[in-house]
Amino acid sequence: MQVATVNWLEHIANDLAEQGFAIEDNFLSPGEVDEILHVFDIHRENDRFKKAGIGKSDDFLVDKSIRGDYITWVDPKNAYPPVQRFLQKVEELKEYLNQTCFLGIQDYETHFTIYPEGSFYARHLDQFKNTGNRKISFICYLNQVWDHDNGGHLRLYLEDGPTDILPIAGRLACFVSSEIEHEVMVCNKSRYSLTGWMLNQKKELDFLINHA
Ligand code: OGA
Ligand code: NI
Repeated sequence: MQVATVNWLEHIANDLAEQGFAIEDNFLSPGEVDEILHVFDIHRENDRFKKAGIGKSDDFLVDKSIRGDYITWVDPKNAYPPVQRFLQKVEELKEYLNQTCFLGIQDYETHFTIYPEGSFYARHLDQFKNTGNRKISFICYLNQVWDHDNGGHLRLYLEDGPTDILPIAGRLACFVSSEIEHEVMVCNKSRYSLTGWMLNQKKELDFLINHA
């Protein structure tokens, strides 16, 4: 019997092309997740997390009835080593998607995300059709102990109906930003992730000013 070996890059590219989204388990190992959670602790101790905004650019408007998460942007040049390693894998995926799917991705932006207990993010699209520059959304979950009772599912609204994805440690979810409406269901305990977008243009040079 021949078993086709499909690596993670092929798997994600195929699923994105065929269904507009992909789920990759064990994108990060348990050890890698642990190390990144330590970086969360450092940022939290330094009071770096801010209430996330909504609108065309982030931090535009803070509305708790739409989104309740707290974020801090990753500055790739000064990221801690475990975060650098995560970014390298994202970079690898970006290159692969450009080569195989001709997406023309130029850059990406990423933030650390915490949804406190009781918070959610109402149904939305990460990108208005044909405007702005977000091509592929990706979220890597970092919750080592999590089951259905904890809620916090990523609900994707697909043509065949909604599908729920549990935010378990090491799992990467990605989807076409302009096509897939989605929501984060109410979290019954704190939910951690790295959230990012692959962009079809370079991040603005005023990145640090806008995201400070
Ligand atoms: C977002 C978002 C989904 C998730 O930040 O835009 O939809 O599962 N996140 O955290
Ligand atoms: Ni979103």
